[in-house]
Amino acid sequence: MIKPDAVANQHTGKIIDDILGAGFKIIAMKYVHLSDAMAEGFYAVHRERPFFKDLVSFMTSGPIVAAILEKDNAVEDFRKLIGATNPANAEEGTIRKKYAKSIDANAIHGSDSNENAEIEGNYFFSQFERF
Ligand code: CMP
Repeated sequence: MIKPDAVANQHTGKIIDDILGAGFKIIAMKYVHLSDAMAEGFYAVHRERPFFKDLVSFMTSGPIVAAILEKDNAVEDFRKLIGATNPANAEEGTIRKKYAKSIDANAIHGSDSNENAEIEGNYFFSQFERF
C-alpha cells in the first residue's frame, strides 16, 4: 500500500516503477481514500498500540494506492525493497529512504508474512478484481 504522504507528494509513479523494476508483477491495484472504519480494520492488529489513533488519522488523511503483488519470495524481497519501518533506519536506495519522512509518514506498507498478505489482499480486493 502506497500511503497518503507518498501519494500527496506525487511519488506514486516512481514507487510503482521501483516495484516493477525489482521484478514484482502487479495482480491488482486500486486508488482509494480510506474511511476510519477501513483503516481501523486494516490495522486491527495494532489496536492496543499507543500509536494506533495517530496511525488511523494519518492513513485517512488522503488517498492511498492498494495493490496485490506477485513474485518468488515476495514478502521478504518486498520488505528489503521498502526498507526499515522508520525511514531514519532505512538503507540507502530503499523506497522509505528515498520517499519517507517519518515513522508515520513512511510512504509504503508491505505485508510481513504470506498469511498476512492473503488477509490484507482480501481486505481490499474481491476475487473478481484479480487476474
Ligand atoms: P506499517 O508497516 O504500515 O505498519 C504499522 C504502521 O504504524 C507502521 O508502518 C508505521 O507507519 C506506524 N507506526 C507508528 N509508530 C510506530 C512504532 N512505534 N512502531 C511501529 N510502527 C509504527
